[in-house]
Amino acid sequence: MPKVVYVGGSGQEHAVDGAVGESVMATAVKNGVPGIIGECGGNASCATCHVWVRAEFAELVGEPDDLEQDLLEMAVSEPRDSSRLSCQIPLSPELDGLTVDVPPQQP
Ligand code: FES
Repeated sequence: MPKVVYVGGSGQEHAVDGAVGESVMATAVKNGVPGIIGECGGNASCATCHVWVRAEFAELVGEPDDLEQDLLEMAVSEPRDSSRLSCQIPLSPELDGLTVDVPPQQP
């Protein structure tokens, strides 16, 4: 089971076990991780699942596609190079230990 670590703005960590194929957003919502809302249910249209992927996982997680990139640029409060919509990151065994920072506010 890949573990995902969500780090909040004041440094509090939530480490939860996810399932392969499940998204980083769904894993957070299922486990009550604060700050990940997932309003659209994973359809890449609300941006309330925005996270910043830690640099050591950037390559494994990969780049957003064009649609996601547009939403990140237009809809999130603090877009960075490391921004991703967590509903668009499916968990895989390689992502065990994935660490993401949760923004202080979602759109
Ligand atoms: S859950 Fe809506 S964009 Fe990710």
